[in-house]
Amino acid sequence: MTTKTVFYSVTGHSRTVAEGVASALNGPLFGLSDRFTAQPSGWKRAARRAVRGLDLAVLGTPDVSFDRGDRLVLVFPYWNGAIVPAVSGFVRSVSLAGITVFLVILRQLSGGDELISQLADDIVRQGGTVEGVFSLRTLWRGSQRLRSLGGRVGRHIAEEAQGVPTSLQELLENAIEEEIEGHVRYLQLIERTTRKRLKATFRSFSADEAAHVQMLQQLYRAYAGVVYEPHGGAAASSDPLKVLDDSVVLQELSASVQAERKAFTVYRAIAERYPSQPDVVRQMLSLARSDLRHYRHVKGICNVLSRHQSKR
Ligand SMILES: Cc1cc2nc3c(=O)[nH]c(=O)nc-3n(C[C@H](O)[C@H](O)[C@H](O)COP(=O)(O)O)c2cc1C
Repeated sequence: MTTKTVFYSVTGHSRTVAEGVASALNGPLFGLSDRFTAQPSGWKRAARRAVRGLDLAVLGTPDVSFDRGDRLVLVFPYWNGAIVPAVSGFVRSVSLAGITVFLVILRQLSGGDELISQLADDIVRQGGTVEGVFSLRTLWRGSQRLRSLGGRVGRHIAEEAQGVPTSLQELLENAIEEEIEGHVRYLQLIERTTRKRLKATFRSFSADEAAHVQMLQQLYRAYAGVVYEPHGGAAASSDPLKVLDDSVVLQELSASVQAERKAFTVYRAIAERYPSQPDVVRQMLSLARSDLRHYRHVKGICNVLSRHQSKR
């Protein structure tokens, strides 16, 4: 697990900060280049135009690749507009699955903080997880000061817990598998009880779980570009048609209670982890509400069935 620092710099401030970061982290340093880095005449005007349009410039990416568990520190300037083209272009060209990303944005005075969600969106789509954002002011700050600020940022990052973050795409894959299992479990429960009202409830829950799978697949497609192919293990059932007594139904229902509780907790956690993705937050909160309702309902059924049992 290595922490790699990648910077983009035209007038040298971001380079100096990045050097401080990399040296504090004792990790490799890479520089991005494009048609502005050689400072051709009129580059400032051209740079302004580039960030207003969707100009990914002619990008020189260093030979940097990532292994799961690596960390990436991206250091770049604010150019009053969108994220600098070289940084957008770089992020869109690498796979960041299992990578924790830290962003360091430099500006002379102020601005740019609102752009972080643009870059976070690109990072999430590439499978990465944004763990920290640092904004630094360059005005009246010489090289030494900038280097030492970079060092402080590096030491802060070094203290952060390390691990392999699960990408949004992987979280959605797990959620699809769990919802399919839930769907199959309710289908089996329909067959396993003779109680009409319970059958109707399980039927409506299995339909809800199928709708959840659809919602998750749509979201997955938006982020992974393809539909997720489930493993299909949950469909196998040893004796799905056998009618069983309440005690076994109760046992199976308690598995549903656990699964529904886990589901709404996971959905809330995903919503919290991706504030830069409004579509993810909206869908996750809607799924969490639905599974919380299931959880309460199934728990209620469990209580009634166990009261029936204890009266016997
Ligand atoms: C085209 C352009 C637009 C800029 N706009 C702003 C701005 O709106 N606010 C600000 O504080 N700094 C602005 N800056 C200043 C840079 O963010 C700052 O100088 C930065 O440190 C440059 O990084 P570098 O030396 O690594 O290239 C702008 C710089 C350029 C070239």
